[in-house]
Amino acid sequence: MTNSTQKDTGLNLRGRDFIGLADYSSEEIQYLIDLAVELKRKQKEGEVYQPLKGKTLGMIFEKSSTRTRVSFEVGMFQLGGHALFLSRNDLQIGRGETIWDTAQTLSRYLDGIMIRTFAHRTVIELARGATIPIINGLSDLSHPCQALADYQTIYERKGSLKGLKLAYIGDGNNMVHSLMVGGCKLGMNVSVASPEGYGPDREMIEASREIAAQTGSQLQIVTDPKEAVADADVIYTDVWASMGFEEEQAERVVAFRNYQVNEELVKYAKPDYLFMHCLPAHRGEEVSEGIIDGSHSIVFDQAENRLHAQKAIMAAIL
Ligand code: CP
Ligand code: NVA
Repeated sequence: MTNSTQKDTGLNLRGRDFIGLADYSSEEIQYLIDLAVELKRKQKEGEVYQPLKGKTLGMIFEKSSTRTRVSFEVGMFQLGGHALFLSRNDLQIGRGETIWDTAQTLSRYLDGIMIRTFAHRTVIELARGATIPIINGLSDLSHPCQALADYQTIYERKGSLKGLKLAYIGDGNNMVHSLMVGGCKLGMNVSVASPEGYGPDREMIEASREIAAQTGSQLQIVTDPKEAVADADVIYTDVWASMGFEEEQAERVVAFRNYQVNEELVKYAKPDYLFMHCLPAHRGEEVSEGIIDGSHSIVFDQAENRLHAQKAIMAAIL
């Protein structure tokens, strides 16, 4: 898809930040999914597509990453641009320079910034100070790049998204927040089961409910994993202790012990259910080895689609 195609749709994503899926309309999210599918086809067929020649993306990392770092760097290269890895420890923010000054300075060199950080407000502050688009590569609140790639993956497998049921089992973290918002935008039914005290953020539930009311989706928040998984088309889980919560690992293993996605739980889903996980995974904790390595699992398609979905985001906004 070319820039003129974006114009043809009447959508204008150029210059926008990509901080959360709530900022994008259902049509814009579907447009990005379609563009990701198209860019994937081009890549597989060896068609060179380099709309970002001469452009540079800065990638600020305050946390570890395998998929996000490599897929953004490779994606930018494939689009004809260049990506710079900027670790917090090597930047002056590690020594107290403000986010505002960093944003202002980097805006003079770069065409866009991807940031992976702890507090979501850091992403917001960066976007306030920057004059170039900011992409959220994961914060404590959300992980919209992963959710976009995930919805692309489901779309490729099922042919459509509207009316499908996605069951998320486990921690009410950044991942489920983006899945709830994105799923409701796309007309899916989202069911979340978490232990008492570990459910999704109240404000994210409210925001998702408002979206669901407009799109006809249903959002269900429960504590019983079997109830969430009942007749699900997709079962999704994530680690019990996200980055930054490692010291709670021992207590979380106890709190989440009945929330493993395993051979027993998947019996309640549709026979052709898909198993998804953003990775990295802990086999034997949130998911049994048999399920993540089994025939319903599409976790590496999700990982691959990070590349294509993020190329779509960059091609659209940069
Ligand atoms: N899923 C994901 O964001 O993976 P990384 O932490 O490896 O980037
Ligand atoms: N919820 C996980 C996602 C990792 C990609 C975390 O924040 O660590």
